[in-house]
Amino acid sequence: MIIVYESKTGFTKKYADMLSAKTGMKVFRVNELSKAEKNEDIIFLGWMKVGKVQGLGKVRKSKVRAVCGSGTGRTAEPDSETVIARNKIGGIPFFYLRGGCFPLKELKGVDKLMLSMFLKMLKSKKDKDENTEEAASNIENGFNGVKEENLRPVFEWLGTAR
Ligand SMILES: Cc1cc2nc3c(=O)[nH]c(=O)nc-3n(C[C@H](O)[C@H](O)[C@H](O)COP(=O)(O)O)c2cc1C
Repeated sequence: MIIVYESKTGFTKKYADMLSAKTGMKVFRVNELSKAEKNEDIIFLGWMKVGKVQGLGKVRKSKVRAVCGSGTGRTAEPDSETVIARNKIGGIPFFYLRGGCFPLKELKGVDKLMLSMFLKMLKSKKDKDENTEEAASNIENGFNGVKEENLRPVFEWLGTAR
């Protein structure tokens, strides 16, 4: 099995590299996969954009054995079942990994615009719970939620799958 990932700002790449360092599995960015590698079993890691695991479409024809999605929420939002359905990955394990983001003012282009709108929506909520406050603060100020311990369920699954 090989590790394949898509990462825009580097947080998902950190998880892919940690996974590789601990298991000895080879790691590839999705765009760097050769035809031969596309025939291997794959554990895929991608950053999440509006609920969609980025880059997953590029390995649809390959043997994807498990998918990890990295996002800024504490848990998969709104929940894992919705993410699994949205990304059509029923039947294989899905693992949510908390990633991170840079402060909004450091972003550019469409991503900045989308997150600015999302932040505005969060801030305009009347009854803001702790999660909403945290999400808004993370977007505005940036944060890094990457921790090796978040990969524990993935290591456990790999222990039985390989
Ligand atoms: C435009 C945009 C949309 C996003 N949508 C989501 C989302 O739906 N769910 C989520 O948890 N995180 C979302 N995020 C946060 C990223 O998925 C998160 O920061 C991720 O860890 C970044 O990974 P990377 O550094 O590998 O690119 C979004 C970020 C951007 C810029």
